[in-house]
Amino acid sequence: MHSSIDQSAKEETGTFFSQPAIIPLPQNMIGQPGEVILHAKTELDYNLEDPGLIRVARFFQQWINAEKLKPANDENSSKARLIIDSGMPPEAYSFTATPEEIAISGGNAAGVFYGIQTLIQLAKPWRKNNNIFLSIPSISINDAPAFSYRGMHLDVARHLFPVSFIKQYIDILARYKMNHFHWHLTEDQGWRIEIKKYPKLQEVAAFRKETMVGHLNDRPQQMDGQPYGGYYTQEEIREIVKYAEDRFVTIIPEIELPGHAQAAIAAYPELGCLQEPLEVATQWGIIENVFCPSEQTFTFLENVLTEVMELFPSPYIHIGGDECPKTQWETNSLCQQIIRDEKLKDENQLQSYFVQRIERFLHKHDRKLIGWDEILEGGLAPRATVMRWRGEKGGIEAARLGHDVIMTPSDYCYFDFYQAAAPNEPLAIGGLTPLEKVYHYHPIPESLTTKEAQHILGAQANVWTEYMKKPENVEYMIYPRMQALSEVIWSGKEKKDF
Ligand code: ACM
Repeated sequence: MHSSIDQSAKEETGTFFSQPAIIPLPQNMIGQPGEVILHAKTELDYNLEDPGLIRVARFFQQWINAEKLKPANDENSSKARLIIDSGMPPEAYSFTATPEEIAISGGNAAGVFYGIQTLIQLAKPWRKNNNIFLSIPSISINDAPAFSYRGMHLDVARHLFPVSFIKQYIDILARYKMNHFHWHLTEDQGWRIEIKKYPKLQEVAAFRKETMVGHLNDRPQQMDGQPYGGYYTQEEIREIVKYAEDRFVTIIPEIELPGHAQAAIAAYPELGCLQEPLEVATQWGIIENVFCPSEQTFTFLENVLTEVMELFPSPYIHIGGDECPKTQWETNSLCQQIIRDEKLKDENQLQSYFVQRIERFLHKHDRKLIGWDEILEGGLAPRATVMRWRGEKGGIEAARLGHDVIMTPSDYCYFDFYQAAAPNEPLAIGGLTPLEKVYHYHPIPESLTTKEAQHILGAQANVWTEYMKKPENVEYMIYPRMQALSEVIWSGKEKKDF
C-alpha cells in the first residue's frame, strides 16, 4: 500500500511488525504485513451522541495535534473508528489496524481509551519530504485487564509537587492503563488540601518550619532550617479531578485519621488529646499526637469530609487508619470514658469506634471507606475496603471476612524502597525492591479460595516522599518499576514474561 515508505525507516524498526513493544503486554495480538498512516486530516468516526466517546475523541485529537502532523495527500487517506460494544467487558478493547483504517472497540469508553493508549505506543514517526506522519503496523489486538483496580499513590505531604507534575503523573498512569490515583493529602508534616471552613489548615497546617536533611536514623539528626509548605486550592483540585476524569483515572483522596494528624492538631489544638499548642511536625516517622475521639473532632472531620466529597466524585474515600499510637488515649479521661460508655475492650476497639463512626458518615453520603490494614485491629467497619500494606495476613483475613482488598504490600509495592543495592543510589527510606521483584508479584495469595480471591480487587504502588524532594526524584523512583507493576495488574500472571 505505502510503497513510498522509505527503506531506512523499515530497517530501524527491525522486528517491529511481528512483535511491537506495548506495555502492559496485551492479552492477544497478531501482526500482519502492511501499515496505516495517521496524519492531521485522519478522519475520526464515532457516535457524536455518546459523552464517553466525545471525551475519548477529544483526547485523540489533542494527541494528534501535539504530534504536529501534516495532512497527507489523498493516496494516504486514513480513517479511525471508535466504537462502544456493550457485549465486551468494561475496560476491555479490541484494536484492528489495516492499511485503510484503525478500528477500536471498547466495552465502555474506558476500553476505547485504552485502545488509544495502545495506538499511541504503536505509532512510529514517519518522515517524508520534511513532513511527519505516524505509521501504525497492521495488527489485531484483543485485550482486557486482569484486575479492576490498578493504581498508584503519591504522598504530597512530606514533599509537595506542582499541579503540572500531578497532571503528568496522571498521564503516566493512563499511559500504562492504570485507573486509580490515590492522593495522600494530609500528614503530620503538612496539610495540602484547602478546606474553606477551616482557614488555619491553610495558614498553619500547610507549613512547617524546617525539614529533615539526611536519613531519619542519622545521628545526630540534621534539619535544614528552611520553612517549607503550601497546599492545593479547591480550584486546582477541581482542575486536576477533571484532568484525571478525561483520562479515566479516579482520584481517591486520603484524609488521615486518627493518626498522622499532627499538622491539623497544630492548627486546631482542641482536636488533640493534650489540648496544648504543637508545631507542624518536622521529623519523619510515627508520631504520638493523634486526633482525640471527641465530638469536636468528629464535627471537624465531618465538615472536612463534606468539602472533600464535593471536590472528589470518587466512590471511595481513604481515611488512612495506619500507625496510630494509642499512648495518649490510654491516659486521657475522655477516651477512657468512651471506652466505658461504649463497652469497648481497649484502645484498639476505640480506634474501630472512631473509624466506624466515620464510615457511617461516608455511607450516609453514598461513599465507601478505604483504610490501611490497621483498621482490622479492634474490629473492621462493616463495609470497609482494606488496603493491605503489611504482611499477607491482613489481606487474607479481610478477604475471608468478605471485604474487598487492594494489595499494596511494602515488599513489592513500596516504590520509596531502594531499587538497587548500588552505592550511588539516592538516599531512600530503606528496603530493596528491584524491578524484577516487582514484576514477579502476584496480588492473589495462594491460600485463598476462588471465591475469596474475587475480593482482591487489584494492586497499587505507594510513593512516600520523605526522601523525594523534586518531581525528578519521584520519576527516578517510579521508573521502570511502575511499568512492571502495570503488567502485574493488567497483563496478569499467565501472560506476563519478564
Ligand atoms: C503506611 O505505609 N504506613 C501505610
